[in-house]
Amino acid sequence: MNMWQCAGWSDEVTDHPVGRTLLNRRIVMFRDANGTARTVGARCPHRGADLASGTVVDGCIECPFHGWRFDGDGQCVRVPSQPATVKIPPHARVPAFPLLERNGVLWVWMSAGEIQLGVPPSDAGGIQRGVPVPDPPATAGRNVRRIFFPPQLIAAPILRTLENAFDEAHLPFIHRKTFGADRDPLVERKHIAVDPDGGGLVAQEDPDSPWHTAPTLPRGWVGVLAAMLGLRAPVARYVRFELPCVNHVYLEYPNGTYDLFVTYLTPADDAHTWLFVSSARTRAPHALGDWIQRRVLARIFAEGSRETTLILAAGSDSPPRQVSVESDRTSLRVRQLYERWDEAPQAPRDDGGARAQRPGEAL
Ligand code: FES
Ligand SMILES: [Fe+2]
Repeated sequence: MNMWQCAGWSDEVTDHPVGRTLLNRRIVMFRDANGTARTVGARCPHRGADLASGTVVDGCIECPFHGWRFDGDGQCVRVPSQPATVKIPPHARVPAFPLLERNGVLWVWMSAGEIQLGVPPSDAGGIQRGVPVPDPPATAGRNVRRIFFPPQLIAAPILRTLENAFDEAHLPFIHRKTFGADRDPLVERKHIAVDPDGGGLVAQEDPDSPWHTAPTLPRGWVGVLAAMLGLRAPVARYVRFELPCVNHVYLEYPNGTYDLFVTYLTPADDAHTWLFVSSARTRAPHALGDWIQRRVLARIFAEGSRETTLILAAGSDSPPRQVSVESDRTSLRVRQLYERWDEAPQAPRDDGGARAQRPGEAL
């Protein structure tokens, strides 16, 4: 895939290595002596130990098995079982992958294609790509609270996970205790605007929808607390999709404050997907607001584990032809854009169908 892919959050990579499987490859992220985040393949070329279980020493990653050390370029720089005067075999290296750190997000380039520096998807949707997005919020500034939630490994393939991220109709059934509580199951028809280059879309309320729903707010004490924290029926909202895999949900309230959820999806392997959810908001811009949002997100993910079972069940015994209705239209358009991009000619794929690439050497 010739794209920058989200690999995680900046604050995950401290003085410990972080191992992760992305695009069918085990990688390890760590910081070099300058504090720059680096990514290399995690399989030690000596006897195959997982470098992610090792330690970071002098800005290098040290294998836990026999202590070989690899720098941020993937080159072995130390073999403790021999004196420093003895030459290290030139093949003692692991692939290195370019990594960008931007606004708290880590972007990895795992493709063989030519690197497009400086074009990972932006926080603010299509703005960077010159695509008009309604009411673009600033995601940095004094009154903006930013949260990076713990990455979630979802046991479902990317396409199903992606579709699900744009599926509004499941909320009152699966997310009964969080944002689906007391929600009207009716889903209004959306107006969908696809970017001219097919790289994304924006879906928002269609004033001409044949039916309308009134936004509902949580009831009971949760509702009282939410109202105290500025939660009101939104006056504007949209969802945005951007290739390779970003989902934005934007809600704006009568006093001009907003909630923006930005989710990056990256395939781990053919059956698992990483979900990196972050939020930016000006509503309730304080620590209590952060605490509540973290709690709510944790509950949503807990509800989602049931959802994953349903998604997987559908995957193992799918109907030969899926039946869709109006409320599936946004998901279907997103799926179409993703599939069109995924099937477009890409840089050559290596090892037995793995989507990533021939890394390292070309870099
Ligand atoms: S397996 Fe890594 S140093 Fe031996
Ligand atoms: Fe869900």
